Amino acid sequence: MSNLKEILINKNICKSVWFMRQAGRYLPEFKNIRQQNQDFIQLCLDSKLSTEITLQPIKRFDIDSAIIFSDILLVPYALGQSVNFVQDTGPKLEKFDYYKFLNNDKNLFNQKLKPVYDAIRKTREKLNKNKSLIAFIGAPWTLLVYMLDMKLKKNEIDHNKIKLKVEQINLILDNLTKFLIIHIENQINSGANVIQIFDSWAGFIKDEDFENYCINPNLKIVDFCKSKNIPVICFPKGIGKKYKRFNEVVKSHGLNIDYEVDPGWAKANLKNVVIQGGLDPRVLLKPEKEMFDRAKKYLDTFKNSPYVFNLGHGLLPETDPVKVERLIKFYREHQ
Ligand code: CP3
Repeated sequence: MSNLKEILINKNICKSVWFMRQAGRYLPEFKNIRQQNQDFIQLCLDSKLSTEITLQPIKRFDIDSAIIFSDILLVPYALGQSVNFVQDTGPKLEKFDYYKFLNNDKNLFNQKLKPVYDAIRKTREKLNKNKSLIAFIGAPWTLLVYMLDMKLKKNEIDHNKIKLKVEQINLILDNLTKFLIIHIENQINSGANVIQIFDSWAGFIKDEDFENYCINPNLKIVDFCKSKNIPVICFPKGIGKKYKRFNEVVKSHGLNIDYEVDPGWAKANLKNVVIQGGLDPRVLLKPEKEMFDRAKKYLDTFKNSPYVFNLGHGLLPETDPVKVERLIKFYREHQ
């Protein structure tokens, strides 16, 4: 049995595989669609195409779960901040307007994101019943980084942008959390079986702000998913040893570890949770033997505990789909 929802809820030893960014970027069938659809946000909002893209890795690899083709930045978009994907420099958002942001209306937000919910409904209809459909959000802090344009070059954050405005920042995070919960509820109502929270920039939060900007917002969202009886996987990337405290306080059903977390440490320190991922996506660019050796370390470590095979970050655009196929086969032969 490989149903992700069951595994997360029952925390049993059953095994399952899916990959972050399994839909898009590296698949030729995706690149083909992408070439004809230059506006990335509009592509995400084309429910027919996003359903098709979501199902591409299922058709190709018969992988155990589907993740809806969408983006974490659709939420700032729906909250009135336009988003542009600039080739090679990543996403660029329109300048943040505090008062406009606070005046957002729930009906307009729902209306703007309706194509995502339609895509979830369509995908759920087409997806085999034993496969889970994962929907996702960006955590409030990670969205804030993009919304306030806090990213500097070389993976650095400009903390000055939030330094003197603690009260404003807290209000923004609270309001964002409120809309993210609406977005999760809509996705659940459309047929999503599992939620994943991407806190990709959590590793850049200062220690003294960690509770306020990482733990508390994730906890609120996890508690909401629990109230809906839907399992939730957190991915607070780059937080190192703070994964232990995060797990003890937030208590999500699943916890994705990044590639810097030692699997042995995770096994010993992250209790009462289904661990997911960890494998460095760069190993898919290495010779096959090295890829299998690195994968085996995770499979051996988590042999007798509930574990979802996945990566420590998303698949890279230059990944060869044949390698993905071989890795899935290797994983299945080792069960
Ligand atoms: O297969 C899947 O995992 C589902 C689809 C998905 C996308 N984005 C599609 C996408 C998911 C889960 C995301 C999450 C996401 N988006 C995160 C969190 C995970 C992470 O990588 O840390 C973040 C930070 C974003 C924001 C974002 N979207 C960036 C920084 C970029 C540009 C750089 C990049 O990674 O490609 C995107 C674009 C994006 N989102 C693409 C896809 C398929 C590439 C679009 C293209 O073809 O140009």
